[in-house]
Amino acid sequence: MRNSRFDVRPTSPAVGAEILGVDLSKPLSAAETEELRGALNDFGVIFFRDQDLSPEQHIAFAERFAEINVNRFFRSVPGYPQIAEVRKEPKQTANIGGGWHTDHSYDEAPALGSILLAREVPESGGDTMFASMHHAYEALSDGLKQTLEGLRAVHSSRHVFGAAAQYSRDVAGRIGNPDLATQDAVHPVVVRHPESGRKILYVNPGFTTHFEGWTQKESRSLLDYLYAHAARPEFHTRFQWRKGSIAFWDNRATWHFAINDYHGERRLMHRITLEGVPLVRR
Ligand code: SIN
Repeated sequence: MRNSRFDVRPTSPAVGAEILGVDLSKPLSAAETEELRGALNDFGVIFFRDQDLSPEQHIAFAERFAEINVNRFFRSVPGYPQIAEVRKEPKQTANIGGGWHTDHSYDEAPALGSILLAREVPESGGDTMFASMHHAYEALSDGLKQTLEGLRAVHSSRHVFGAAAQYSRDVAGRIGNPDLATQDAVHPVVVRHPESGRKILYVNPGFTTHFEGWTQKESRSLLDYLYAHAARPEFHTRFQWRKGSIAFWDNRATWHFAINDYHGERRLMHRITLEGVPLVRR
């Protein structure tokens, strides 16, 4: 990156960069914060290594970027309601986030992003994949882009976090408050990223239920086409965690997928989610 205070190393052509030469336990200056914000806009997700932050330092780092969203569903770290636990114990089989999704798309103002800090990781496995939804959008044909520009999609938390949801049962004890799973939001299918101005394909397999004005059945095949398209590996990067690693991703610009391949081992992550803004087409 130009004139960088940090060493910024892209992890794939489409998405992700590792940032070296920064100690996040120390307060960031305004210039450093802006540089990291720029890297987040350029790469969609930024990674840091060996950041053994206390919960207070994790919170202070997050607050440099936006207000913290206190998650309604996740169990929090005792004493720190701002920090959600993403946990899988050796005896558990389901993990949290084990499918392509973007957090909080069911909110009217979807979260800006999340800052995930690895506290305990399996010996191998438990990687997280990220997809660039800007590159996925750009690779579509002009005709399909034009069709999508006219559409809006409905996103919901009900079928994921509600009492009747299979996922809610699979990760019982780690998420709660099913009665609060009442959010439905409608967003344009193609949004302008509020900071970078790039066009983003904004539907995701986790929370999008259908196109506005279409039935779920009618929506299925086009959504499935878009999901298969965005799942192409050239839009992805894959992050291998170590204790003290951080991934800071932009929820508008990326999808993520926590790989569940480490049964019998514990994986414990601390996640802070940042408030975002309503999304618009232009
Ligand atoms: C999440 O979906 O927020 C969790 C991602 C992960 O645990 O890697």
